[in-house]
Amino acid sequence: MFQEIAHPLIANELGILRQKDCPPHLFRQSVRRVAALMTPYLCDKFATCDVTVFTPLETITAQRLQKPVMLVPILRAGLGFLDGFLDVIPQATVAHIGLKRNEQTLLPHTYYSNLPESLGDYEIILLDPMLATGGSAIEAVKQLQESGAKSIRFACLVAAPEGVEIFSQAWPEVPIYAASLDRCLNEHGYILPGLGDAGDRLFGT
Ligand code: PRP
Ligand code: URA
Repeated sequence: MFQEIAHPLIANELGILRQKDCPPHLFRQSVRRVAALMTPYLCDKFATCDVTVFTPLETITAQRLQKPVMLVPILRAGLGFLDGFLDVIPQATVAHIGLKRNEQTLLPHTYYSNLPESLGDYEIILLDPMLATGGSAIEAVKQLQESGAKSIRFACLVAAPEGVEIFSQAWPEVPIYAASLDRCLNEHGYILPGLGDAGDRLFGT
């Protein structure tokens, strides 16, 4: 399942992010706003359960999320995406996966992984602003599944059709949510029109 989240506020932020001279501090703030705007769409199927709540006036049955939420940013650029999700789900656990794409082969190399046990208990949202060839996201889902994850959603800012197709073939049970489905990849594996190198633009490197 692929969903492009069409919302005027997200479209407005994409207009800011796509400008090549948007400086890192404004880029980071805009990515954070998009992430916060996307969160309700990613969570709209989360199960809730009844809880008894004592209001100042009465006792009522209210709702709470049935399962805890885990956010998994793919380093580095996923870090820039994390804060907006935490703004809306502050109680979420955060686990990190460090991947770096080889610039020649475009294949991901894992340099860090810190996944807790009992991943099966969580609603997991995997975070990376860029879905390009799909290699990094496919590898991250593999690691999550090997650690017992059962419910995974993938959130990205910009997706290339090539990456969406290959990811959906590899992990048909993992829905993808994107702020934009872009046109294609260029010969260097960069998304067009895209954002450029998201990690560099977030961190000013
Ligand atoms: C970028 C991006 C994704 C990956 C996407 O990270 O943040 O993780 O490339 O490309 P793919 O879909 O072709 O795998 P990069 O590997 O450049 O690392 P960085 O975040 O440290 O810059
Ligand atoms: N990684 C990025 O940061 N940007 C792209 O366009 C592709 C991969």
